[in-house]
Amino acid sequence: MVERDENVLIAEQRERVRYLTLNRPDVLNALNSKVFTALETELARIEADPGTRVVVVTGSGGRAFSAGADLDELTGLDPVDTRKLLGRGQRVFRALERLGKPVIAAVNGYALGGGFELALACSLIVGSEGAKFGLPEAGLGLIPGYGGTQRLPRLIGKQAALRLMLSGQRADATSAYELGILSQPPVSDDELLDTVGQLAGEISGRSPRAAALILEAVSSSDGLDAGLAHETTLAALAAASGDAAEGIRAFREKRTPSFGAG
Ligand code: COA
Repeated sequence: MVERDENVLIAEQRERVRYLTLNRPDVLNALNSKVFTALETELARIEADPGTRVVVVTGSGGRAFSAGADLDELTGLDPVDTRKLLGRGQRVFRALERLGKPVIAAVNGYALGGGFELALACSLIVGSEGAKFGLPEAGLGLIPGYGGTQRLPRLIGKQAALRLMLSGQRADATSAYELGILSQPPVSDDELLDTVGQLAGEISGRSPRAAALILEAVSSSDGLDAGLAHETTLAALAAASGDAAEGIRAFREKRTPSFGAG
């Protein structure tokens, strides 16, 4: 696919807060390797900069935080390259999670697939009334491959997570709050960035060392790295299947996929 936008990640510093805006609005901020590279570069810069105490991640265009993995990029990769791409995205999300500085996802519109998984790797998720969360992969013959099978059950419990993953149902902002996906009740779309800015300001005025230690204490759990590695292998396997070929083709052709027997 021809890259329609060069600057796939806009970074802005406002006082002690770094704003990272996913900027591929034509494809609802779908995540491709260019986005991962830009995120990686930004994370290295933020880590080294004591002047940045909080990070905000959001999406441009008003319709989506991100609609997930770029299906054009995923199509046509062989299984080994798919595993490489997924592993790379996972490492970037893990680096975000382990940045040692609070990261707030400001979600308006769709946070689907990898977009939801990116939000899950953030320390806090704040959503507006138009936010919609979901893991639609199984409808495409894929499985979540950017940490969703690991982080979502840890966050909302196995039953609710399996319901979202197996059925593809989307959680609107209110149910996302009730499920514990959102860290506070949804605000109006217009208020989202102000609300997040205010929260980021409050956090940035407190001890950055304490924040780093709180983040480490809360996330020092249980086998996440092993789970993520296993997920990468299984997601690459799914992406190499005939169901994935059919699912992605059907998405492109705007029709319902016809999957074979299991
Ligand atoms: N990868 C690549 N392109 C994507 C994309 C993705 N994950 N999600 C959306 N796009 C593109 C569409 O192909 C379309 O491009 P086009 O204008 O060249 O046709 C554009 O973004 C707008 O999306 P469209 O589907 O026309 O908008 P919509 O309002 O009808 O539907 C969604 C919005 C989010 C429901 C729908 O785009 C969707 O289901 N996207 C895929 C989500 C997904 O399965 N993510 C997980 C991938 S593993």
